[in-house]
Amino acid sequence: MEMKDQIDKKKLPVHVAVIMDGNGRWAKEKGQHRIFGHQQGVKSVREITEAAAELGIRYLTLFAFSTENWNRPKEEISALMSLLVTTLKSETKTLMNNNIRLEALGNLDLLPVQVRDGLNETINKTSGNTGMILVLALSYSARWEITNAARKIAMDVRSGKLNPKDIDEQVFSQYLLTHHIPDPDILIRTSGEYRISNFLLWQIAYAELYFVHKYWPDVRKSDFYRAIIDYQQRERRFGKISEQIQLNL
Ligand code: IPE
Ligand code: IPE
Ligand code: MG
Repeated sequence: MEMKDQIDKKKLPVHVAVIMDGNGRWAKEKGQHRIFGHQQGVKSVREITEAAAELGIRYLTLFAFSTENWNRPKEEISALMSLLVTTLKSETKTLMNNNIRLEALGNLDLLPVQVRDGLNETINKTSGNTGMILVLALSYSARWEITNAARKIAMDVRSGKLNPKDIDEQVFSQYLLTHHIPDPDILIRTSGEYRISNFLLWQIAYAELYFVHKYWPDVRKSDFYRAIIDYQQRERRFGKISEQIQLNL
């Protein structure tokens, strides 16, 4: 049986989040410049996006550039930004063909204007698509997002719009950038690193973690299927005990 056929379509994760890591090391191992790794990583982005859409995943979030990544060498940042512009242009077709809607998540004001324009263009072009929602986390960090939420809450309290007594987890979530997106069910990180790197800290409270021991440019559809099959074999207990879950209590 093909790996794809082993996936139970009735038990799909609603939201899959991916930390795409290892482009630089992949290139270095081949005696190439880090940028080459980023360029080759685009093919993996296409593969995983297609695989997720074909399976019927509702939300796919890809961590493409973190707030901390602004601290990389200038040349790498500018190459990444140019690559983003060209990739948005070239991949809009893939998004349209697969009925995918694009969204962006992060401190987008920090992005060069060409990237912001490219993003807006693709977001607008795909806004009528009704299939999977692809969320690109760009210039994103969870602590930045949570701090912003706290500031907005403080302002609403000050202006009398919000009573501090009413602040619970539900209300807090509404102040995050992801207020309209369900929490990830599974978080995949490639490259063999076991860390979260400031990604979706609030939202992954109960996500299943899955680590791929390949650099991102080597990741293919089969790796994605393997992650979903593994996810489907896990029991998510949310603090309860196994018997409660099995009896649906
Ligand atoms: C992930 O690959 C892409 C970005 C963070 C932009 P890296 O660039 O982090 O590659 P490694 O981890 O250094 O190999
Ligand atoms: C995390 O990767 C950010 C993205 C994948 C965009 P990094 O490569 O920046 O993470 P650290 O710094 O090694 O933890
Ligand atoms: Mg890295």
